[in-house]
Amino acid sequence: MSEPDHDALDSTFMGYMKVFLDDPSVAAVTPSSRYLVDRTVKAMDLERARVIVEYGAARGVMTKRILEKMRPDATLLAIEFNAELYEELAKISDPRLTTVQGDVREIETILAAHGQAGADAIVSGVPFAFFSGRGRHELLAKTSALLNPGGRFVAYQVTTHLIPMLKDYFSSVDIQFEVRNMPPHFVFTALK
Ligand SMILES: C[S@@+](CC[C@H](N)C(=O)[O-])C[C@H]1O[C@@H](n2cnc3c(N)ncnc32)[C@H](O)[C@@H]1O
Repeated sequence: MSEPDHDALDSTFMGYMKVFLDDPSVAAVTPSSRYLVDRTVKAMDLERARVIVEYGAARGVMTKRILEKMRPDATLLAIEFNAELYEELAKISDPRLTTVQGDVREIETILAAHGQAGADAIVSGVPFAFFSGRGRHELLAKTSALLNPGGRFVAYQVTTHLIPMLKDYFSSVDIQFEVRNMPPHFVFTALK
């Protein structure tokens, strides 16, 4: 078995840390762990999703796993705000993937610009805690409205503050917790 490349791990961590210090809305000092990625991607129920949207894709750790698990005829629109992280995300090459450097609060405009009227699965790592109360409600309302019937919204978050709001916009909310991540995260699965 090969040894882990500690220099590469260190440079990934330091690179993420620098982006985090420059832009606190990045909200994580490391990319999601494989445990959090696995739990989140499983919750997305990708066998039935044809149009998939990712909010806050960063360098694409979750994006790559979604691409591994999604159907060959599905499309993935991955959105990231931070320019430095977006540069890495845009290097992922897959004909089913479209990357967008933009703000998810403009999701309806972004989707329309890419010829989509709705989505079957939306996954989000964006820190809702950084938005105003009104901003959180607006994004959840738009997200729910854009989901096709039977669609689902999966959000991985550090705190539980989103739960009552999710209940306002979705018919059911499942809550899981993944401790094997720095920091530990909740994974909320909200059904339209
Ligand atoms: C917790 S990180 C997610 C990291 C990544 N998906 C992963 O699994 O490692 C949150 C990401 O959301 C991005 N973000 C924050 N606010 C955003 C916004 N309004 N629109 C788009 N991306 C945003 C941040 O730049 C950051 O990359």
